[in-house]
Amino acid sequence: MSKRYEDASWQESMRLKLDLNNMFAQTIGEEHGYSKEDIDAMQERATKAHKAINEAKEAGELGFMELPESHKEIAKDIKEYVEANRDKYDNFVVLGIGGSALGNIALQTALNHPYYNMNEEARGGYPRLFVPDNVDPDRLKGLLETLDLSKTLFNVISKSGGTAETMSQFLTARAMVVEELGEGAVKDHFVATTSANSGNLIKIAKEEEMKTYYIPENVGGRFSVLTPVGLISAAFTGIDIEELLAGAAYMDKICDTDKLWKNPAYLNATLQYLADQDGKPMSVMMPYAHSLKDVADWYRQLWAESLGKKVNRQGEVVNVGPTPVKALGATDQHSQAQLYMEGPFDKVVTFLEVEKYNEELEIAPGYENISGVSYLGAHSFNELLTVEKKATELALTKNNRLNCTITFPEVNAFTIGQFLYMFELQTAFAGELYDINAFDQPGVELGKQYAYGVLGRGGFAEMKEEFDNRPEKSEDFIL
Ligand code: PA5
Repeated sequence: MSKRYEDASWQESMRLKLDLNNMFAQTIGEEHGYSKEDIDAMQERATKAHKAINEAKEAGELGFMELPESHKEIAKDIKEYVEANRDKYDNFVVLGIGGSALGNIALQTALNHPYYNMNEEARGGYPRLFVPDNVDPDRLKGLLETLDLSKTLFNVISKSGGTAETMSQFLTARAMVVEELGEGAVKDHFVATTSANSGNLIKIAKEEEMKTYYIPENVGGRFSVLTPVGLISAAFTGIDIEELLAGAAYMDKICDTDKLWKNPAYLNATLQYLADQDGKPMSVMMPYAHSLKDVADWYRQLWAESLGKKVNRQGEVVNVGPTPVKALGATDQHSQAQLYMEGPFDKVVTFLEVEKYNEELEIAPGYENISGVSYLGAHSFNELLTVEKKATELALTKNNRLNCTITFPEVNAFTIGQFLYMFELQTAFAGELYDINAFDQPGVELGKQYAYGVLGRGGFAEMKEEFDNRPEKSEDFIL
């Protein structure tokens, strides 16, 4: 039977739309808005960047671009594994952090019932999902003591196979499983997702005979949501992971051109880059759909960790990087909108809007004698949220604030696949414009190394010494 995502007209009807009108002078005014000429002037750099991206792809350095094709078969294999095993478990727990957790959370919030874990009918026989994404003792103990371990499958995810947060979660969960169910139970209660050839997790997984899935060497953590990192937990909660990959493949085709006016990922990156250069480094992503709230959180990591860099590719100190901010409509209209409207001209707001929500919910009528309340009864919540988005957009525009909108015809696996891929490519392209390496994260290493030293990890004694000899804090500044 053919799948809906194989049908060209369905695909077209589900295409994301990027509306950049409010980034341009004709709506936003000359002082802050861009002109067509500004974009045309960037075309030569875009062509160069496109060439560099394609060369890196050909050289096998940009693994995330291969995933929509290379993971089709892997997705089938994951689906088979999930369907054969899901009945055994009531709970599925992701043990991972950063790029090994944020995509999992984003997919779950976007594509499953908002109260999935509490709603058995909505789960349709799939296990509940938990992603602690932290090592807070209260949160972790609270989770582990709540779960029935005999009905729980843990997916320990770490590309490096050595991340302290993830491995400490794993050690603790494993010890509890062993204590309650015996040594022999480990292989039935843990799945590993890691590098095939390096790190400690692969050694442990082999020793424990765990089911193991691999993260391609050429795909970095924050670009790995479409590898088994994100696909296993998605499939275990009933998400159509093949449709997700089909959405990414569709966006890949749309973006296979160096022409800025035709390529949404490149044009959006270019405008964000120009805005940053012009003193607007704050990149706010504001979905008007609760389901897209964690997609904004995923974007926040992708944009920040990829583009915030000290040195450029020539090794010169540049200290660049825009600051991604997540917000949520309409909630943050009552928290952040005042700042966005009247504060400094340092932001670009990217709205995410949805044409058709999964549900239609009418506002109940009432109090016909109080016109300030009764007008609401003639409308739906769908209308209320949509109108609020359009009203906020217009208000920002009237205040000459740069903003743009990405429209999802629906939030489904196909549109989410498009979105994830578009932003990954946008990030790679922005890396070219900033002339930095968008795929490393040297800035997070130093803090990690001090922590390893203090906790006694072998090979980090010098870091402990440096930590122990850190300058004394002055009491003058402690109140
Ligand atoms: O994007 C990244 O590379 C990081 O955020 C990593 O995903 C994160 O540090 C976790 O790393 P690992 O998967 O090696 O445990």
